[in-house]
Amino acid sequence: MSRADSPSRRPAAELIELDEVLDARGRLTVIEGGRLPFAIARAYVISEVPPAGCRGGHAHRYVAELIVAAAGRFTVECDDGVQPSTVDLDRPSLALLVQPMVWRELSGFSEGSACLVLASHEYDEDEYIRDYAQFTALVADARP
Ligand code: TYD
Repeated sequence: MSRADSPSRRPAAELIELDEVLDARGRLTVIEGGRLPFAIARAYVISEVPPAGCRGGHAHRYVAELIVAAAGRFTVECDDGVQPSTVDLDRPSLALLVQPMVWRELSGFSEGSACLVLASHEYDEDEYIRDYAQFTALVADARP
């Protein structure tokens, strides 16, 4: 799929297999910008999540993200207000592309895990939706 594809035509959350180079020295996982429907404006890493800890718990108005388990494993639940989905990210080569207006919750972080996120825009707290009732209302309003 090329970057020209409209984000609105893509699934709310979509698994992408990343290329890997594996040899006796270990594993190298490649994320090339051309595989993504957005230009990468920001990268961040979530680590040291305590046992039973959760991250996310919000949606983004316009930011799309690629979520990668750079180390360890964790679970991502996505909800676009229509079709909820749950994915276990358990290896660096399995990435989850999450479109804007998708509520996401990350949990089940294994010890030593690291969540790498590539984002389409720089950080802007104003584009977050952190209230689930507000999220469902906005989704319902946007329905034809
Ligand atoms: P948040 O997005 O809620 O984290 P998560 O989705 O992983 O649970 O962000 C947690 C805090 O970090 C919040 O105060 C905003 C801040 N933050 C930044 O300053 N820059 C960033 O790029 C991100 C993602 C968060």
